Amino acid sequence: MDKKDKIKVAVVFGTRPEAIKMAPLVLELKNRTEIEPVTIVTAQHRQMLDQVLELFNITPDFDLNLMKPNQNLWSLTSEILLETKKIFDKIRPDIVLVHGDTTTAFGAALSAFYARIPVGHVEAGLRTFNKDYPFPEEINRVLADSVSDLHFAPTEGAIQNLLKSGINNDGGIFKTGNTVIDALLHTVKKDIDISYIGLEPNLKTILLTSHRRENFGRPLENICDAVIELINNNKDIQVVYPVHLNPNVQNTVHSKLDGVERVKLIEPLDYAPFTHLMKMAHIILTDSGGVQEEAPSLGVPVLVLRDETERPEALEYGCVKLAGTEKVKIVSLVQKLLDDNDFYDSMKQAVNPYGDGLASQRIADIIIERFK
Ligand code: UD1
Ligand code: UDP
Repeated sequence: MDKKDKIKVAVVFGTRPEAIKMAPLVLELKNRTEIEPVTIVTAQHRQMLDQVLELFNITPDFDLNLMKPNQNLWSLTSEILLETKKIFDKIRPDIVLVHGDTTTAFGAALSAFYARIPVGHVEAGLRTFNKDYPFPEEINRVLADSVSDLHFAPTEGAIQNLLKSGINNDGGIFKTGNTVIDALLHTVKKDIDISYIGLEPNLKTILLTSHRRENFGRPLENICDAVIELINNNKDIQVVYPVHLNPNVQNTVHSKLDGVERVKLIEPLDYAPFTHLMKMAHIILTDSGGVQEEAPSLGVPVLVLRDETERPEALEYGCVKLAGTEKVKIVSLVQKLLDDNDFYDSMKQAVNPYGDGLASQRIADIIIERFK
């Protein structure tokens, strides 16, 4: 097919989770003869984005290189608007795809809307219906959904949320599954040795990740205190925490947990070893969105370090529970998982409410059908 006849699809992302979830879609779009994909990274994250680009062998067509140390929402949002405008003016895509609920997603969606370019929102329709939790992601995704023309919803629940949010069901809402499962299935089947992490094979491993803005300060301190209590009470466990590079996370976590025995604080892991670490973990404690979606298909019990979640499907299956950010509740739920085999087994079931690994194919099919 002649290049000028191809559908020009600009894919914009900037952080680690967006990269993981957009990578399989970029690869799928590249395989379609009808499509000319253009990859634009804001680099809202730098190192954590590059880890993913390398793994999936993606070289961006445009790299805005925007990340600043301890950046703020105002300057990042303004720069994303201004810099994506320049690229959209230059390449005039047929559609711009954004993902999820980050500043990159919201900023690039608004920028495309201003440029009168159709927007497709991948992972549309996630909601808590509470504008402060998660902050600012709930409002980012509401705004991205509002300006989008195509909504790629991962689940039936997400479709219902879109309708509740007043998005017209005018043929632009599709249930596709979540591309995170495409990425996970692609990655987890690789044979990866994670012995370099240095975990003790005879101890039960608790994998911890926490980075949410609303957990900065006291809640994250509580989480660390819970870890210390659990470590003191259980000589047969170890905790591994790949610490997010946000300085608000780094400072609290290192000041609380440096030097605590059987607690391993490590750098953010590449996605492939991280998926293997999830698979071998006995329990996962996390406030991450992506990890809540991935862990259920690996059959590992997950305690979510938040009071509410926009991902209720795995809660309904019972493999995920909300633990909040109070020390007492976290400690008691983890202890119950360690002591009560029936409780552990009831949470250990492998279910896959978020997708079947074919979400990227469906999205590519829909775009071709729409723009051919
Ligand atoms: C962002 C998203 C959040 C998402 C998270 C995924 C927003 C508002 N927040 O939060 O929704 O869950 O990414 O991880 O979009 N940093 C580095 N290197 C990196 C990445 C981050 O040094 O590779 C440090 C920098 O100092 C940076 C800071 O972390 O300024 C914050 O990054 P930012 O993207 O603004 O916020 P996150 O907390 O990462
Ligand atoms: N992840 C990773 N390395 C790590 C921690 C997490 O590759 O050290 C992956 C994880 O498997 C998931 C994604 O990063 O796919 C989640 O990113 P994060 O928790 O930063 O963001 P969220 O999903 O909460 O927006």
